[in-house]
Amino acid sequence: MQTLEVGLDNYFSIKFENDKFIFLDQTKLPLTEIYVETDYYERIAEAIERLEVRGAPQIGITAAYAMALSIKNVPQKLFQEKFDAAYKRLARTRPTAVNLFFALNEVKNEFEKFKHEKNLYAILLNKAKEIHRNDVEYCERIGENGSKIFNRKSNVLTHCNTGRLATGGDGTAFNVIKTAHSKGLVNFVYADETRPLLQGSRLTAFELEKNKIPFAIQTDSMAAVLMQQGKVDLVITGADRIALNGDTANKIGTYNLAVLCNFHNVPFYIAAPTTTIDRSLASGSGIIIEYRNKKEILNFNGHQIAPENYETFSPAFDVTPSHLITGIITEESVNFFPYNFI
Ligand code: MRU
Repeated sequence: MQTLEVGLDNYFSIKFENDKFIFLDQTKLPLTEIYVETDYYERIAEAIERLEVRGAPQIGITAAYAMALSIKNVPQKLFQEKFDAAYKRLARTRPTAVNLFFALNEVKNEFEKFKHEKNLYAILLNKAKEIHRNDVEYCERIGENGSKIFNRKSNVLTHCNTGRLATGGDGTAFNVIKTAHSKGLVNFVYADETRPLLQGSRLTAFELEKNKIPFAIQTDSMAAVLMQQGKVDLVITGADRIALNGDTANKIGTYNLAVLCNFHNVPFYIAAPTTTIDRSLASGSGIIIEYRNKKEILNFNGHQIAPENYETFSPAFDVTPSHLITGIITEESVNFFPYNFI
């Protein structure tokens, strides 16, 4: 495994080059930009678990590359064994983002179809690249579709990170903001810090700065005051899993925002590719929520802030009921409540 240290003006978060998967270690951002290069699927599984690579679409794409790598340089008679082990390992990494399972199953279907081919690695790699390419296109179309919800130059509040650091392309909710900004429709962005792992203050702020979009960061508890003071025209976030009725799992704190928007009469939008829709779930009650290690609550920036014996409550995601969501933007269209994604 190789670690490259670079200080790029521009940035990429994942890429596949020379039979290696290269990712920007997001746990080190924004102070350090370190790229890690690997062709070992176990290292990639760890990267997903530790949130070195994160965001629903990006987790799916990353897992697809890992599946292809699991049979690289493996004798044909061991394809099945190695592939199954990698599938099980990657499926255990993070339970909530449905994009992970979508991508794993896409690659698995390809495996089943072509498992007797000698060049199976190349076939699976092409599948992973296709999943990646598709996401780049979905991001572009989400950005374009989403920019149509702006009817004037607006102040936007967002939560967590949904940009290039969370997808294969330029983002979902983030790319709506970026596209609208390029059309002169964004005045200012308020980025929620996003406790406990600070995807807002560390990652979204990093991307807003790279894209020269004016912004401020605030702790999650400050969103209510911003709305009370009339400083927020709309809220837009991403999603990790959307049920057929529009109930949406996203980063913990998203539900708070939806409730606040409802109270203050501020439109609340979700932006996500259709790969985030779980077509097996009628409503959000069946969404599996990931609970994270208590250390993420008891520590801040590597420093312990509360006694280790304290109990914690640490869901990584919450589910926003669909009636609180003004619209759901996908690469296909902008959908409005009531939703029926069948
Ligand atoms: O735990 P994370 O950082 O992977 O959570 C990410 C989010 O909740 C994002 O909002 C979601 O995955 C959409 S990313 C386009």
